[in-house]
Amino acid sequence: MEQKQLENLLGELSLEEKAGQLVQLMGNFYETDVEAVLTGPGKNLGLTEENIRLAGSILGTYGAKTLKKIQKNYMEQHPHHIPLLFMMDVIHGMKTIFPMPLAQAATFEPEMTEKCAAAAAKEAAASGLHVTFSPMADLVRDARWGRVMESCGEDPYVVGKFTEAQVKGFQGEEPGAPGKVCACVKHFAGYGAPVAGREYNTVELSEHTFRDFYLKGYEAGIKAGAGMVMTSFNTLNGIPASVNKKLMRDILRGELGFDGVLISDFAAIQETIAHGYSENEEKAAQNALECGVDIDMMTGVYAGNLAELVRKGVISEELLDESVLRVLELKNRLGLFENPYKDASENEEAKLLLCESHRALAREAAAKSFVLLKNEGNALPIKPKKGQKVAFIGPYVDRKAIISSWAITGDTDPCVTIQEAAKEIFDASNTVYLEGCPILDHGYAAHAFRRDDEKEYTPEEEEALLREAVAAAKEAEIVILPLGEHFLQSGEAASRAMLDLPEVQMRLLRAVSEVNHNIVTVLFSGRPLDLREVSRYSAAVLEVWFPGTEGGHAIVDVLTGRTEPTGRLPISFPYSVGQVPISYNAYATGRPDDPNGTDKFKSRYLDIPNEPLYPFGYGLGYTKFEVSPVRLDCGQLTNAARLKAIVTLKNTGARTGTETLQLYLQDVSASVVRPVKELKGFKKVTLAPGEEQEVSFEICEEMLRFLRADGTVGSEPGKFRVWIAKGSTQGAPVEFLYQER
Ligand code: NOJ
Repeated sequence: MEQKQLENLLGELSLEEKAGQLVQLMGNFYETDVEAVLTGPGKNLGLTEENIRLAGSILGTYGAKTLKKIQKNYMEQHPHHIPLLFMMDVIHGMKTIFPMPLAQAATFEPEMTEKCAAAAAKEAAASGLHVTFSPMADLVRDARWGRVMESCGEDPYVVGKFTEAQVKGFQGEEPGAPGKVCACVKHFAGYGAPVAGREYNTVELSEHTFRDFYLKGYEAGIKAGAGMVMTSFNTLNGIPASVNKKLMRDILRGELGFDGVLISDFAAIQETIAHGYSENEEKAAQNALECGVDIDMMTGVYAGNLAELVRKGVISEELLDESVLRVLELKNRLGLFENPYKDASENEEAKLLLCESHRALAREAAAKSFVLLKNEGNALPIKPKKGQKVAFIGPYVDRKAIISSWAITGDTDPCVTIQEAAKEIFDASNTVYLEGCPILDHGYAAHAFRRDDEKEYTPEEEEALLREAVAAAKEAEIVILPLGEHFLQSGEAASRAMLDLPEVQMRLLRAVSEVNHNIVTVLFSGRPLDLREVSRYSAAVLEVWFPGTEGGHAIVDVLTGRTEPTGRLPISFPYSVGQVPISYNAYATGRPDDPNGTDKFKSRYLDIPNEPLYPFGYGLGYTKFEVSPVRLDCGQLTNAARLKAIVTLKNTGARTGTETLQLYLQDVSASVVRPVKELKGFKKVTLAPGEEQEVSFEICEEMLRFLRADGTVGSEPGKFRVWIAKGSTQGAPVEFLYQER
């Protein structure tokens, strides 16, 4: 439709019809009898039949057949036959589930993520969806927060790269194109920094921390062209994000130039009342619309108040029109006025969902996301041999629930377990597969998840599992111990105060370690955990996150060396929970600690080291690499020319392998203090044994910019340090000068 026609259509709408475009309801409202909805969920939200008939978008329902039917019925009864928008959380896959986002960031391969998002978009589009509530661009430094699994970690550069890759993958050149969906960057802003890691909690960020770290990810997603943005639940410096003018008008629309559709998070406009900000629903509606929040997700706040607010003259019709037009423009951009069903097709669903090529991609992505944290005595890889006695013991040996709590469109049935994959390779008569212990401590599921569908074991059953496990471990040459968090221990509303494994699993690990020292722990988790004890008892530790549909295959691929583990940590694994929030790119103090010194008055803990157990950027492979000192092509950088930093990378091991070289910079002194180092680039390089290669990074003025003391963003001349290293704690820096020309 031409823009003019769209504007004419807007002009024809009544106030109620306009407000309707700004209301989003759950899809199940449209799957059942309207009477039942009105007396049930609709009544709870204070909705009328008209509100439901006029709502402009729905969330949480998918499937070509269902959505086509909903669209047809809806449009027939809509006074102007305006199509609905269908939105859903397709976070790391639709039916083919790829590794969780934090795991994808561990690949340090945004190109891989773009492919995964493109595959997810194809499946989602065939299922009738138009928009995915993804990517989540929230930066996270606190592993207690459950949604860390859905983030890309602690570094603004990595978060930015992976946010961009997801937007590109979902949308391609244009979200209206076949097989594409519109991306929604969320949660604007600062949702990843709740006080004490507790979900939905207050966020307090200084202007410097906000702009230099937290804002970057959203900015990258918007620059990549995301059609939508979602507000966050939290307050930011005292004002709920969803009604925060500085955030939404000044920064998002003004500075970042976002002109797409802004949607609230689920009931977030209404929650500004509970926050103690908006006095009532009428005020909440006014506050949010004035901030340019276009769609109210799943409450009656807009539906019940907007038209009346215009009639009373509290808000202008122009303000309402501004938001309605943005929604109509998105529908138009997706081509829905011409084809309201877009790509919805049962045939395509049958062809695409869980198709072989998507599964192959999921297997490759999962294997690339695993991080080898420890590998003493080259315990890994294991070459499966006839007659070799191997014991797979642990609650994740044959568990299908390996897709994360955010894979809400995915199913666990198609998932490949470790046992299923291992049986394809390991000697059947000498390999045992045992559960070893329950996944959770007694009573935990009922208490923590407020549901009790996890099987409970009697103490006798638990003892029997443990006895059997210890007996098998005694006999085995190698024990593979797949342990981990339950998938409901991370995700939304899954904050944890402790970063440990369930005690029942630790008991298994300790008991096995008493009879066998050759333990390879395969660790499933949605977050960094305190791994001190796990690491102490294991010869090797492989972090596999929530790996998705092809998890079992990918794990066996890496354990047996068919694939090398090339993942690197996109987030620090703290020494203990007492260190969080923690990130490598911290500011120095006036009294930096010297662990070998004798001075007590240093910035340090009395009981633990300052350093995380496994730092950002860290990860082992199956070969060894040496990195030469950094060389510069000249000693000085100017704003007119770039500087090249070069190292020679050599594979000194016995097999072909891949290293991830990371470029870090430090601004030595400035008008505000700068981090001890910041990642500015990375490159994955594959070399044959004995092979060496020069690897270079270009450094430019833009990389040196930050929020200066005078409130402007820019660089400052002076001394800088540069590292090119295998991780955030490795390598030695060289210095250069930056001068303006
Ligand atoms: C709440 C979550 O915070 C958000 O990320 C999600 O997109 C919506 N629910 C819709 O499911």
